Amino acid sequence: MTSTALPRTLPRAGVVDTVRVLGTVVLPTIARGVIIRRPPVVGLLERADADRRAVQLLQRLRRRYGSGPLRLRVPGRRMVVLLDHGDVRRVLAETPDPFTPATREKRAALGHFQPHGVLISQGEDREDRRRFNESVLDTPSPVHRSADGMVGGVRAEVDSLLGQVRRDGALTWAPYSAMWDRMVRRVVLGEGALADSALSDELRTLRATANWAFLHPRRRGVRASFLDRVEGHVRRADPGSLAGSVAAAPSTERTDPVQQVPQWLFAFDAAAWASFRALALLHSHPEQLARARAEIAGRDLDRPQDLPFLRATMLESLRLWPTTPAVLRESTERTVWEGGPMPEHTSILTYAPLFHRDDEHLAYAHTFDPEVWLDPARAADWPLIPFSDGPAVCPGRNLVLHVSSSILAMLLDATELGLDQAERLEPLPGTLDPFTLRFPVAQRLPVTQRSEG
Ligand code: HEM
Repeated sequence: MTSTALPRTLPRAGVVDTVRVLGTVVLPTIARGVIIRRPPVVGLLERADADRRAVQLLQRLRRRYGSGPLRLRVPGRRMVVLLDHGDVRRVLAETPDPFTPATREKRAALGHFQPHGVLISQGEDREDRRRFNESVLDTPSPVHRSADGMVGGVRAEVDSLLGQVRRDGALTWAPYSAMWDRMVRRVVLGEGALADSALSDELRTLRATANWAFLHPRRRGVRASFLDRVEGHVRRADPGSLAGSVAAAPSTERTDPVQQVPQWLFAFDAAAWASFRALALLHSHPEQLARARAEIAGRDLDRPQDLPFLRATMLESLRLWPTTPAVLRESTERTVWEGGPMPEHTSILTYAPLFHRDDEHLAYAHTFDPEVWLDPARAADWPLIPFSDGPAVCPGRNLVLHVSSSILAMLLDATELGLDQAERLEPLPGTLDPFTLRFPVAQRLPVTQRSEG
């Protein structure tokens, strides 16, 4: 640097561009509900093709300001948005220090019902709670150690849903989501929690409050009642459930096992939306549907099965419509970037759809291409981050992919479905509202054919 060179600073968006980012990227993400979805808003956002507009805006800003990180002019806040894939990799790899996931927004939202949850913990608390979560969730295993016990419960719930589908002549969101709630109570807390629908209701109330983060007072009574219920179920430790793995997991006085459980209960929701969208993808892509059927042909779905193609289909659904579109971090110290320094306490926004749907870099951006996930080199090549990445990557990734691919398999095995309004997926929209998808029953395979494929 010569003596006359100015110190480098990160590019800064003008006021108008900042307002555009807030209105087009941040506001829709908050409005759809960060902790629990607001279905009417999701429908509006599909009609406005909101996520596609947001991606196009960020691509324009990348052309105008360079690869960033791009500072936004938000009064009273230091905030940047990441535009470069290398920067996304760096921030996720250098988590939790100097980029903590326990951002102000997340602490405000999740503090409503799990203030000691790992996602909003820091320092030694985080390390301790992460270790506990990874142990219970059996993070590295493609098939959870308790999967034998879980599959039977999942099968019972899917069978009861199928009865309803046959009576209704179609699969729709309301019964699917009711099945999902019961299935989640079984998998997380065991058969003894099956009748405890009040637990799911209380969690819904707390999540609706958490959507308002700082703006809503705490519901201490509901939280106490909810956590008491969770504790009772955890103490029972039903085999074949996550609660059954709690006692054997490493825990200390820092862990607070009961407060790790709400995340397991509510994070499963994302897989309900993603699996319903995956069904829509399959039923609008005959070639991939045939491949999925070929994968399950002859399998005994009453035993845990590894189903790579259906897992890849789930991952594609999550790439096309990520359920955590905004991956947030906050810098804990000053960091240095190619463009200049970034001060501590800067909020860092990674908008996953920008990278998942970046048609300036990805030939497959707007197509349904499960192969992307079956070729590790291709998937590792670019930040496809539906489960985040790095040391804070979702520790439930394998578990949830196994459970949801098994559910897809059971549904495909037992029914022939169609898809109403299939034109909604042509071309694949930026936003897809799962709550209004409807799958009429086309044909049911005779029971005798089911296990013979
Ligand atoms: C399709 C379903 C799911 C998706 C897409 C998903 C995605 C994610 C993402 C993106 C994060 C990181 C959030 C952030 O950095 O702000 C995360 C964290 C986490 N997820 Fe999941 N998740 C899913 C299901 C689950 C399930 C079923 C469980 C447990 C049973 C689970 C447990 C966790 C935990 C404990 C964390 C916090 C990890 C930490 O902070 O170290 N997730 N998940």
